Amino acid sequence: MKALILVGGFGTRLRPLTLSVPKPLVDFANKPMILHQIEALKAIGVTEVVLAINYQPEVMLNFLKEYEKKLEIKITCSQETEPLGTAGPLALARDKLIDDTGAPFFVLNSDVISEYPLKQMIEFHKGHGGEASIMVTKVDEPSKYGVVLLEETSGKVEKFVEKPKIFVGNKINAGIYLLNPSVLDRIELRPTSIEKEVFPKIAAENKLFAMVLPGFWMDIGQPKDYVTGLRLYLDSLRKMSSPKLATGPNIVGNVLVDESAVIGEGCLIGPDVAIGPGCIIDSGVRLSRCTVMRGVRIKKHACISSSIIGWHSTVGRWARMENMTILGEDVHIGDEVYSNGGVVLPHKE
Ligand SMILES: *[C@@H]1O[C@H](CO)[C@@H](O)[C@H](O)[C@H]1NC(C)=O
Repeated sequence: MKALILVGGFGTRLRPLTLSVPKPLVDFANKPMILHQIEALKAIGVTEVVLAINYQPEVMLNFLKEYEKKLEIKITCSQETEPLGTAGPLALARDKLIDDTGAPFFVLNSDVISEYPLKQMIEFHKGHGGEASIMVTKVDEPSKYGVVLLEETSGKVEKFVEKPKIFVGNKINAGIYLLNPSVLDRIELRPTSIEKEVFPKIAAENKLFAMVLPGFWMDIGQPKDYVTGLRLYLDSLRKMSSPKLATGPNIVGNVLVDESAVIGEGCLIGPDVAIGPGCIIDSGVRLSRCTVMRGVRIKKHACISSSIIGWHSTVGRWARMENMTILGEDVHIGDEVYSNGGVVLPHKE
């Protein structure tokens, strides 16, 4: 089986982190975002992943070379020279997505984090016998999204409603698809939208089915949602009784600590914290609802909440970072500094 990962956009909303690496390589829960997806695909037997990408393919491929070997999966790029929307990239990668067996292929959106129930999706796809399956998820505020209306029992998609002003339903496109190769015959090589131009036509022929995504879903393309996404992800690890979650007298709630990180005495860590490899957390530090990326040093008695600390940065003694403070890579914050929602570019002091 093959899969396409749509790596859209330049990651502007995740700046300053995306000034250092392409968006899919920004760490989420101690691992580049895209690895969450590649590992899930590998786990259900996908042998080749195509990245639909519009910039810096060399950076991505160099990085992923190591994982090609480790995970024994082929990773290639399909580079757009002009933005092709959400459907055009499928036409561009057409030859790579079709295999001799005529098997369906997955399409994932690189910003989306979930439990990736891909095996269940394959079963769902086989069960309905249509041409395409999409995953939908329930949201509280459907008015911001495209709502999918479906027949409750069969999951047959009846209609798409873009950003509805009045309530019509609360299930939205979760950005995870399983498509028969024949879907590619419906897509032209030009900028087009799969939601607006391709899916409605398949639905009109009664060949599009939607499965409600079990578990959580989050588009983590911007800092606030990234921090929320980490909470949901860690909650889900807790539900699965994952041994990856940290335990101990200094830990509150769900926390991930890389085994190479060092944590001093008298710290209080959690809930909803990820501490990356090689981090040094001095004594008396308080961390909650935050991500501390690889190689960071947090000095004594600093306090960080609802924030993201980029790779190899340092935070001074008694400093306080809160309310969506984002430090880029290699940022150095002095002692006693207070940041309320500050965003700091890489390599600054
Ligand atoms: C957090 O930041 C937002 C905007 O960035 C601001 O409106 C709000 O007042 C801040 N909250 C606190 C508690 O300072």
